[in-house]
Amino acid sequence: MDDDGSRISPTAHYTGQTWVQHAMSDPSLATPEGRLLYTGLRPIHWTLTLLGQPTLDGFLLARHRTIDAYLTEAIEDGSVSQVIELACGLSPRGLRFHRRYGDRITYIEGDLPHMAALKRQKLEQAGSLDENHRVVVLDALADEGPNSLAALTSAMDPNRGTALVTEGLINYFDQSTAEAMFSRFAGALAQFPNGMYLTDLYLNRVTNAPLIRAFSGVLSVFVRGSVYTFYPSTEAAENALVGAGFSFASVGSAADHPASATAKRDPGASLVWIARATTSSTN
Ligand SMILES: C[S@@+](CC[C@H](N)C(=O)[O-])C[C@H]1O[C@@H](n2cnc3c(N)ncnc32)[C@H](O)[C@@H]1O
Repeated sequence: MDDDGSRISPTAHYTGQTWVQHAMSDPSLATPEGRLLYTGLRPIHWTLTLLGQPTLDGFLLARHRTIDAYLTEAIEDGSVSQVIELACGLSPRGLRFHRRYGDRITYIEGDLPHMAALKRQKLEQAGSLDENHRVVVLDALADEGPNSLAALTSAMDPNRGTALVTEGLINYFDQSTAEAMFSRFAGALAQFPNGMYLTDLYLNRVTNAPLIRAFSGVLSVFVRGSVYTFYPSTEAAENALVGAGFSFASVGSAADHPASATAKRDPGASLVWIARATTSSTN
């Protein structure tokens, strides 16, 4: 993971291509790097699938679809009409939700400078950007300053329910950095009548299985850094989120969510947990 944003991590290209391959994205969000990586890793994917082992596609699809389902539910029930997708990478969620909900929602995507510039260019090509769909430079680690979440949320409508989404971000940081992020996120969401945070998480209990440990090792090489797993249980993750300032937190396996659909046949789906934490009194 490139903390300084000086170059774009290969994982963002890979996940971007995964969404395109599974018809969840617009071809304009594809990149040559993503195509190359995705094609290059296909033999490993096919081998793992034949052996009944977890695949990258399995866990990526499970987490993306489950987050989509929670976000859809909150938009449909009226509790959320502003969305911030932080560390958006080449995620197609903003594009899809903007096409679906138009001016019913404001969707703001944020990432480090190089990725934000690339995403803006790609979404312009897709014809999606307007006053209800924007891309901004946003640093998940900044407490203050122009690229901080605090600066962004203070300029948003304080009377509208707001969701913050991170996907594929938290587990690239150590526990204290991740928990500082949770506090930052809870603080920023607290100013809205409903604040909801959605993220994927990886628990450390699964890493006891040798094959899963091998899978995590491959993933670490792939992301050129460590993948941290620090909560032994869903309860521990929920307690951490509440300890960081959320009023309610629920963490569940993506494989148990109906939205995972066919992805749950891949054991990769059971390696991903989705956290939903709120700052409002209504859960
Ligand atoms: C694994 S990619 C995931 C992209 C996207 N969420 C997805 O699921 O397709 C991780 C993303 O996190 C972004 N990132 C890393 N550190 C960040 C930070 N401090 N603030 C904001 N974004 C960050 C990277 O630029 C990259 O786009």
